Amino acid sequence: MNDSKELFFVDSQAMPPRPPEFWPALVVTGEQIEGEIARLSGKPIAEGDIRRAYVVHPDAVEPGLGLAPGIDVSVNVLLPGESTRPFRESASSVAFCIRGQGTCRVDARTMDFTTNDVWNVPSMGVFSYRNASTEPVVFLSYSNAPVLKKLGVHVFETAPEAPPRMQVVADAEHKEKMQRAKASATNAAIGSDGARVLGYEYLIDIDVVTSRPLAWPWKEVSQHLDAVEHLGGAAGKGYQGRHLVALYNPATERRMGTTPAFFASIAQFPPNRVDAPHRHSSAAINYIFAGDGRSTVEGRKFTWKAGDLMLSAPGWAVHNHAAGEHGCNILTVQDHPLQIAMESLIWQETLKGAIFKMGAEAGAQTNIADSIAAE
Ligand SMILES: [Fe+2]
Repeated sequence: MNDSKELFFVDSQAMPPRPPEFWPALVVTGEQIEGEIARLSGKPIAEGDIRRAYVVHPDAVEPGLGLAPGIDVSVNVLLPGESTRPFRESASSVAFCIRGQGTCRVDARTMDFTTNDVWNVPSMGVFSYRNASTEPVVFLSYSNAPVLKKLGVHVFETAPEAPPRMQVVADAEHKEKMQRAKASATNAAIGSDGARVLGYEYLIDIDVVTSRPLAWPWKEVSQHLDAVEHLGGAAGKGYQGRHLVALYNPATERRMGTTPAFFASIAQFPPNRVDAPHRHSSAAINYIFAGDGRSTVEGRKFTWKAGDLMLSAPGWAVHNHAAGEHGCNILTVQDHPLQIAMESLIWQETLKGAIFKMGAEAGAQTNIADSIAAE
């Protein structure tokens, strides 16, 4: 702490509530990303280091530079034969391979990946990457580190000496079955509406939900995309929902995440599909990996094509997306589960519809049953 700084008080009238502030939507072109891949590929690095560059929004401020306020996106390259030393961090991440073949090791699990595959790296998992192929491998990685950096609690270690994570998980599962100290702690009702008092032991020994590294290989995920593309007939006109599958990690339970902070989804828009304008307090970042299309965000129009990355929905900005004449495939990463955990995910599925608080009020419905029947 800087001792020359002094604590002060501010009257609430001098600090009125501020309306949501949007980082403007923007498109990072595939050409810009290719330029960065070339730069990363050509630079000298220390053995075991990673060729990684963050895509930073012009409105981002330290600490925690990102492409959205709570999401950083990095471009990662491993040349043939390269491998990284192990790393560990308190952020969790989800990654998407855009080219080549590589291997991600997290604790005791080794995941091979290739183009369009997705995988997650749990918080505090010891992870490393390897490229044993003869071509460069390139992947995007998205993490919640910006939030942790703003909170001043992001932990990142290089080459950590850690027990194998699977052992840690096994120990945790074993402890679950043991008599726990909290069984002897205070546990009593306060009033009749569910409020309770609980002893300290409840705070330091919460129930464990095992968090594993998982893979969503394209060759399996893609088998489910034709069905969602064809909902609602030609151009999806008869369907009120979105033509996508969410890549679900059961560790996120009802928060519908791929990581505890983000969901990743893969969309397959039918040709000329135009989505309804809507908004949500979660921010969304799209990576287009096939086809092209256009978006309108807060009244501004954008066009995009395969290889482009877009801050496509700043939190609470009204937006919609539309596919071009050949349709498109999009990876979307959105800080949805993080906001559900904070009871902060407000959602408006159509601009004429109600605003609801996701997970604490009834959610939105679509006409999917009729859309399937209409095929
Ligand atoms: Fe959206």
